Amino acid sequence: MNLFIKNIGQLVTVASHGKRVKTGGDMRELHVYTGASLLIQNGIITAIGGSELISPEEIDVIDAEGKTVLPGFVDSHTHTVFAGSRENEFAMRAEGKTYQQIAEAGGGILSTMNATREASKRELYKSAERRLNDMLRHGTTTVEIKSGYGLSPEAEMKILEVIAELKRDHYATIVATFLAAHAVPPEYKDDRQGYVDRICDYMLPYVAEKKLATFIDVFCETGYFDIKMTEQIVLEAKRHGLIPKLHADQLTAMGATELGSKHAAISVDHLEKTNETGIAALKHSETIATVLPGCSLFLNHPYAPARRMIDEGIPVAIATDFNPGSQMCSSMQMMMTLACTQMQMTPEEAITAATLHGAAALGMSGEIGSIEVGKQADVVIYNVTDYRYIPYHYGTNHVRHVIKNGVLLDF
Ligand code: NIG
Ligand code: FE
Repeated sequence: MNLFIKNIGQLVTVASHGKRVKTGGDMRELHVYTGASLLIQNGIITAIGGSELISPEEIDVIDAEGKTVLPGFVDSHTHTVFAGSRENEFAMRAEGKTYQQIAEAGGGILSTMNATREASKRELYKSAERRLNDMLRHGTTTVEIKSGYGLSPEAEMKILEVIAELKRDHYATIVATFLAAHAVPPEYKDDRQGYVDRICDYMLPYVAEKKLATFIDVFCETGYFDIKMTEQIVLEAKRHGLIPKLHADQLTAMGATELGSKHAAISVDHLEKTNETGIAALKHSETIATVLPGCSLFLNHPYAPARRMIDEGIPVAIATDFNPGSQMCSSMQMMMTLACTQMQMTPEEAITAATLHGAAALGMSGEIGSIEVGKQADVVIYNVTDYRYIPYHYGTNHVRHVIKNGVLLDF
């Protein structure tokens, strides 16, 4: 919990000086110190300085040997708890089938639902634990995890309970989101509204009472949940104290971004198809625009207009959307490469989007997301001497050490 890191070549703090997010040109301001040292006490960053900062006696010292230090990544959108895998669909897409065609033919979310319903809590826990370990090894210290592959009260609660156990046990900070409205389960195939009512009248009150989730999410999309159903769920969830997030404008622009902005969603995520009215709505709200470039790569879909949104002053976050169907990569380093090469974000903007803004998308930018005195010591040392090298040299893991809550993790 007490640690002194010396000889840091580049200390990339992403400091926001008390601001929840950075907008416009400020997203490029990383506040980098060279030849820096960092003092961590009781899991908190207590001093940042140069070579004049002397390590207290009786403290573990890490020599960063001139390498680069960044805040831990905050992956604010994942579906990490699931069973099975869908490489068959991956192969079908390679032969020209689309994500929607595969879903309509009985694959997609419902295929993972079947595997997840059959899995025991222990199996779900163990596989998710392995995935989280891998994320930590790649520099991600906070992970949001959604339910959404159960789609029945029992199976959704099973997933949320697994998330709660991981939250209790795992080194990573874990945040739970309730996503029963991910797809309509077979039991309600001909009664979509009946499923929405079941979520609102039965599942939501239970989740809220047991404090199994902080956020509510809805896959607002053609063939899944329409705007009216999404609004019903969002309003009911807010009444129970859950904070809305939305899967918005992934395949169709149907007003989800506007709806999220109107109801103070903490973030709207995806945004591949977001149009002018969506951008205008975001501009006049506090809602974070979370882009998921891995999904565009994996499904060969268009990328979200991140450049445009940043230029409009909208705070943009990057997350993986790690899931077995549309995005099977959990590396935030890789997401930064995609942000820079496919969405015209600068490496500085990509770093802010993957750290501070990920934290803001979870309502946690007061505690994590940057390296500042008083914040939780989630810091990662990379084997590079220039932070831009991380997205530049892609497809490999540059992490050297992960310090979570002031503890040096041993992989
Ligand atoms: O965020 N868009 C909806 N949900 C996931 C995909 C889930 C799946 O295909 O299993 C997503 O992309
Ligand atoms: Fe998702």
